[in-house]
This record gives sequence, structure tokens and C-alpha cells, in this order.
Amino acid sequence: MTEPQTPARPANWVDSRISRTSDALDRAFEEGLTGHVVTSHRGKRVRLEDGSEALEFVSCSYLGLEEHPALISAAEEALRHFGVHLSTSRNRMRPHYLGELEELLSTVYRGNRAVAFTSVGTVHLGLLPLLGAGALPSYPVAPAGSVFLLEKTAHSSMQVLRGVLGQIGPTLRFDLGTPGSLEAALREGAQGGRTPVVLIDGVGSMGGLVDVTGVLAAVAPYGGHLYIDDAHGISLAGRHGAGYAFDAFGDRLPPHVVIAGSMSKAFGGSGGFALVPTEADVRVLRKFANPLVFGHSVMLPLLAANVASARLHLDGEVAALQERLWRNADAFDALTGGRLINAGLRSPVRGAGFATEEAAFRTAAELKEAGVLILPAFFPTVAKGTGLVRFALSSLHEPEHLETAAKILEGTAIG
Ligand SMILES: Cc1ncc(COP(=O)(O)O)c(C=O)c1O
Repeated sequence: MTEPQTPARPANWVDSRISRTSDALDRAFEEGLTGHVVTSHRGKRVRLEDGSEALEFVSCSYLGLEEHPALISAAEEALRHFGVHLSTSRNRMRPHYLGELEELLSTVYRGNRAVAFTSVGTVHLGLLPLLGAGALPSYPVAPAGSVFLLEKTAHSSMQVLRGVLGQIGPTLRFDLGTPGSLEAALREGAQGGRTPVVLIDGVGSMGGLVDVTGVLAAVAPYGGHLYIDDAHGISLAGRHGAGYAFDAFGDRLPPHVVIAGSMSKAFGGSGGFALVPTEADVRVLRKFANPLVFGHSVMLPLLAANVASARLHLDGEVAALQERLWRNADAFDALTGGRLINAGLRSPVRGAGFATEEAAFRTAAELKEAGVLILPAFFPTVAKGTGLVRFALSSLHEPEHLETAAKILEGTAIG
């Protein structure tokens, strides 16, 4: 008699992530090449747990705003007036900072409306189901419903929501690196009259810049909507630091586009925001976006710091920091002979790609030895068996910081 067979459990994304992740990251932790414990931070210099000092290319605060006196004193003042937190959802009670922040962001974004969330991930979670269901007045959806098309390299915080989005409409994937892939997904998705909702990044967290205007042109004939996660693009480009995507569209939010922004990276504070065109869209978000209705606002001292940062965006200070960042990017590209991933692009991310994990390890170890901290990446972030050393550039890096890092890369087999 044969044993009864238990049917195989269908694979889910947790299984596939665990089985696909190599042990290289564990090794990088064990060898002290990542997971650094920082006891203090000034400019790009950090003090580590063992008392040593290092130079970091890890932080995504590309403009160094988190140390700006205006942000620090705003946070201190908020602490004095409120304590550390006002524990309630925004619809019940909210600190005055929240409305101030959203008004200032609306000025940055030329009258479009910004709604603050605690993170970019909660923007996705709150807004995307409403977008797909046709609940946002500026983004109508056909009677047949919507279909979500996710770009392959779009940030993981959107990819993990496929199960949630699947309750609203089917989800398909496409790859901007494969010619015709977006068009094929649009054709397939729009069959039966569904409205496509296309999800992409703006400035890639690892890769390059996404051609947001080209994607919008492809989506337009289908009456679709485009949702852009421009977390890494906010503040570092555009008039008043509106960001990469808003700037690429000509300093405007075109119809059918939603931008999700971060206030935790170049913005210098904390949280995320959704950018939509009208107050009617804002009302729907406030009433129905799950994390807004059933969650907290951005923690109070950081909310006050966000207000201070938004003012620096409007008064020209951010524009000066942008210039310094791009001067540093140009200098680093020159020092590394244009060999790094993203060289020449208006992205703050540079990558040294290696054909083997071992070569990436060696370089990360040499950099660490010289007191330079970077982010090492392995499969599935990069192709199996290869490695990447990621440098996050900042307006605060000094010429000698760039020289130190570039010198170590000189003798390595990048590519
Ligand atoms: C492109 C992108 N989107 C979203 C996120 C998530 O941001 P948050 O921590 O604000 O949810 C990140 C985080 O690093 C990111 O790089």
C-alpha cells in the first residue's frame, strides 16, 4: 500500500525569496562588510561600535539635510511642545505640522495635492487598491475593471503587494529591459476592456533612470494610469527639489499619473507622500487609504523636521545642495574613468559590478579596510554568481572622500 500523498503547498513569494537568496549576504554580515552599527554620525563620517571611524557611501540622504540646523531645531521644538508622539490617526486628531507640510508640498508641486503617509510602503498599500478600483476621481477605471502591470525592477515594496492588488484586478509583469515587453503586457492586460495601471520606479534604487515620459506615452493609448515610485528621485532634481519624475514631465504632474515620493531619503526627514491632482482625490485618500484611516501619522519630531525641509526646498537652499551633489557625481565619474554603473546619469547611485561574488567581496573588504563603507549586493538583487558594490553619493562628500574610494577601485576588475 502506498502512503497517501499530501498535496504540495503552492509556492508563495516568501518561499521563492528564501530559496533564491544566496548566502553571500550572510557572509557579508559575518565579515563585517555590511550591517554596520553606528554610534554617531557627522557629515559622511560615522563612528562605529568598536570606536573606529569610517567614511560612508551607504546613506540615502543624498543632500545631507538630516543635519541641517533648521530640521534639528524644528524637531527639538516639536519635542518640547508635544513630547515624542501624538498617538492617534490623522482623521481623529493631528498636529498642525501635518497640514503645514502638505500645503508646502503643494507649493513645491505647483498646486497638485500631496498627502503624507508614514512611509512609501504605506503609500503603495493605501493608494494602489483605490487606484485600481477606480475610487480616485482623477483616475477613472473602465466598467471591466483594471489590470496591474508591474515592471520587473520596480521596488520590492510594490512587488510584495501583488496578492493584495490581485483582489482588485489581475497582475502582470513586464521588463523595460526587453524591447516590446511593456507593449505586449498592455495589449494582453487591456483585453476585455480593462484599464491598465502601470507601476514603475523613477530613479532606480540599484539601476538607472526609468524613462517615465516614454512609459506614459505607451500607456496613454490604452487610457491607462501610471504610478511612479520616485522615492530616490525626490529633492535631488527639479525646481524646488520636486524630484526626477516631476521634472522629467516638465515640472508638472500629467493627467493619469500618480507620484509616490519619499521624505526619508534626500528630503532629510521621514515618511512618504502621494501626489495627486485634486482635493477630491485627497478626500478619498483620507477617508479610505487604509494606513491613513487605521494608522498613525509620521512621528511628531520628524513631521516638524519635514516642514522645515519643505521650506528649504522652496527657499533655494535645496537647489544649491543639488548642484553640489551633481558636482560630486561628475567628479566621482571622472575619478573612476566612467566605469561604474550609472556613470554620467543624474542618479546619486553608482555601482561597481563584478563578474563573481568573490571579486565583489574582495573589493568590499579592501574598502572596509581603508575605512570606506558601501552596500554590497548579491543575487537576487544582481544576476546569480555576480556581485555589486553600491556607492550612494551625497552633496556632503568631500573631494578626498571620493578620491579615497576611487583609488581602491582602480586596481579592481570591474565589469
Ligand atoms: C524605490 C523605493 N521605494 C520604496 C521604498 C520603501 O520606503 P519606505 O521605507 O519609506 O517604505 C524604498 C526603500 O528604500 C525604495 O528604495
